[in-house]
Amino acid sequence: MSDVTAGLPDDFFWGVATSAYQIEGAWDEDGRGLSIWDTFARRPGAVVNGENGDVACDHYHRMPEDVSLIAGLGVDKYRFSVSWPRVQPGGRGPVNPRGIDFYSRLVDSLLEKGVDPWLTLYHWDLPQELEDAGGWPLRDTAHRFQDYAGLVHDALGDRVPTWTTLNEPWCSAVLGYETGRHAPGRTSFAEAMRATHHLLLAHGLAAGELRSRGVSSLGITLNMGSHTAASSDPGDVDAARRADGFGTRIYLDPLVLGRYPDDVLADVAARGASIPVADGDLAVISTPLDVVGVNYYTSHVHSAGGVVPTGRPVTAMDWEIVPEGFTSLLLRLQRDYSVPMVITENGAAFDDRLVDGLVEDVDRVAYLASHISAVAAAVRGGADVRGYLAWSLMDNFEWGYGYGKRFGLVWVDYGSQERVLKRSARWYRDLITGGL
Ligand code: FCB
Repeated sequence: MSDVTAGLPDDFFWGVATSAYQIEGAWDEDGRGLSIWDTFARRPGAVVNGENGDVACDHYHRMPEDVSLIAGLGVDKYRFSVSWPRVQPGGRGPVNPRGIDFYSRLVDSLLEKGVDPWLTLYHWDLPQELEDAGGWPLRDTAHRFQDYAGLVHDALGDRVPTWTTLNEPWCSAVLGYETGRHAPGRTSFAEAMRATHHLLLAHGLAAGELRSRGVSSLGITLNMGSHTAASSDPGDVDAARRADGFGTRIYLDPLVLGRYPDDVLADVAARGASIPVADGDLAVISTPLDVVGVNYYTSHVHSAGGVVPTGRPVTAMDWEIVPEGFTSLLLRLQRDYSVPMVITENGAAFDDRLVDGLVEDVDRVAYLASHISAVAAAVRGGADVRGYLAWSLMDNFEWGYGYGKRFGLVWVDYGSQERVLKRSARWYRDLITGGL
């Protein structure tokens, strides 16, 4: 066994991940409705170069070829997301048969090639009509999500073993409703707090729905990192506490422990906002989870004045490369929450170049190797981590950064839609098929 994976159990699984809006394109085909990202990306200044996901990687039309690519990497699992407005255009009412058929064919193609489908119900593409009705700050959106989960399960439940409700509710709530950096681009802390609760409620309602239908591998995916204080100065310590509170505990405490953390509730109240908990909500939100999906990219050091750069090397996103923060995060999650974990995303953007048909992305190989080693170290230390899914299968639409930030193991030429395996894809394949 290679040093990188030393200590990982034999049944540890490997995969790659994508999301619907970032790869599919076909934004107005086969009855697909608009999502908040279709609208937001058209807002001047919202996305670098005014780019959008109209075409993206054209995966909607190239799905069979992409599934062959996935299978060729030797992975066990492929994590994809379903576009809500593709299968239920306005976010209510009956299923759109042509939309759901795409995912049915995707699932069949994966299974034929021996790859397990891992389905995420929501990776940020809320139907625009639901946003127009109030979006995530509105409680009713959570009920709409439960219905949508049922529709998708009606069609795919016989073939999809693993279900994730939400991807990174922090991004939906905070980037979407507080900072306005993501769709729908609103800028209200109070709305972000309402959105947070309704996202968690949506998760719980959908989890209950799926559980009652017999789904036995169910979870939610959160983006997390380690937060440390720059010094023992009380201002720095408090900044790290708040970052952890609003980044991690505001989600995992209700999900796993059935309550919001008191210090976070006090912080929310101090800012004149509240979390709109109704009777019974916390019991719904804490429906037992089979897996917590962990998305890890970086960690932060905090001072009273903000995040403090440590001088470490950074990726093309300017995110510091901190593999040991990954180990400490996983050990901490094990200690505080004791739930099985899967790494549902980890990876990096670098300024890749295609030269003579090759992409020699040695910096991505180093990133992946150091982070998989970090996972293995956490497992050796007692963290119950069951698998690792790399972000991402291929270069794609990186939200507000557009197509300029490449996270793929596979290079995408956006002009010709040609896919080229980068060195990292070959390295990953060799690692997981035992060749390294
Ligand atoms: C995560 C998102 C994913 C991708 C990576 C780089 O926050 O879930 O869609 O953008 O970051």
